Amino acid sequence: MKRHGLTPISSQILSPALLSDPITRDAVIIDSVFEQSERDLQWVKELGLNLRYILDTHVHADHITGSGKLREKTGAKTLLGTHAGVTCADIPARQGERLSLGENEIEIRETPGHTSGCLTFVVHTPSNTYAFTGDALLIRGCGRTDFQQGDAATLYRSVHNQIYTLPDSTIIYPGHDYRGNRVTTVAEEKKFNPRLNLAVTREMFVQIMANLHLPNPKYMDTAVPANLACGQQTKTMEVCQMSYREAAPSADLDLSKYRIVDVREPHEFTGELGHLKGAELVPLATLSEKAQQWPRHEQLLLVCRSGKRSGNACSLLSELGFTNITNLQGGMSGWPASRNNEVAR
Ligand SMILES: [Fe+2]
Repeated sequence: MKRHGLTPISSQILSPALLSDPITRDAVIIDSVFEQSERDLQWVKELGLNLRYILDTHVHADHITGSGKLREKTGAKTLLGTHAGVTCADIPARQGERLSLGENEIEIRETPGHTSGCLTFVVHTPSNTYAFTGDALLIRGCGRTDFQQGDAATLYRSVHNQIYTLPDSTIIYPGHDYRGNRVTTVAEEKKFNPRLNLAVTREMFVQIMANLHLPNPKYMDTAVPANLACGQQTKTMEVCQMSYREAAPSADLDLSKYRIVDVREPHEFTGELGHLKGAELVPLATLSEKAQQWPRHEQLLLVCRSGKRSGNACSLLSELGFTNITNLQGGMSGWPASRNNEVAR
């Protein structure tokens, strides 16, 4: 892909990128944002491009992807990592696969650790290499590793084996930068990234990440389920309103009738609110993948902290064809003290 065919359209916080082949005009958009879909469609139109693919580096927790909307409007195919647990993506991508774009290719590299399904997209051109790293590697930082199956040791390995093995001159476009920076290089991050410069060992990195203690992203409860449905949240919510029940944690709620599925993160499951005895921990981001194996008529009780995330989980399950879904109103924070004997900590 020629340099002039590489057209990043970055905002200050989120950085979707639009890449095009200058001869065929075939184009790809990376990490689109639902609210910016109309703008992106305008860019595609103005530049006379044929949008072929809509790529997401991972299931985002801080914004809703525009992939479903852009697919609907353009017919382009959506792509996510095969380990992302998103069943609505047209192309589940794996390590080493290549996507043709005119005469160019986009190489897929699996870079898990921020989430289990993270991908980095690499474009080799005669003059340089470009890498779209999502949240695996940021400018002088990296994505957090404390939810969505994040794992610091895995992220360290991904960055060192899949990104730092690219040429030092590789230009990196990360998924975010909150300070207004747009690009960096492999050489710069190897030297200046405070978490991932070459002097930082894997053990040091794991320690750094364990001590961050960050709050959950503001839009996580909405964004993750919407992104598991390719950003088509509205449709999902309509379906779900007719297809699951709400249950108050009153004395007549008989837990023994249900398969109890707790969709929080592991640290919440074992945290101060505890979890219902017999509950299975299935963090929301893994739900669609795990639920593939479950009988569709099983009685399910979905649980989270406040009832919101589990409500979104109900939507997801109803889209997958489950017919006996109940949401625990108020979640674990609304569980009555009088029924504390049904809680494990
Ligand atoms: Fe992320």
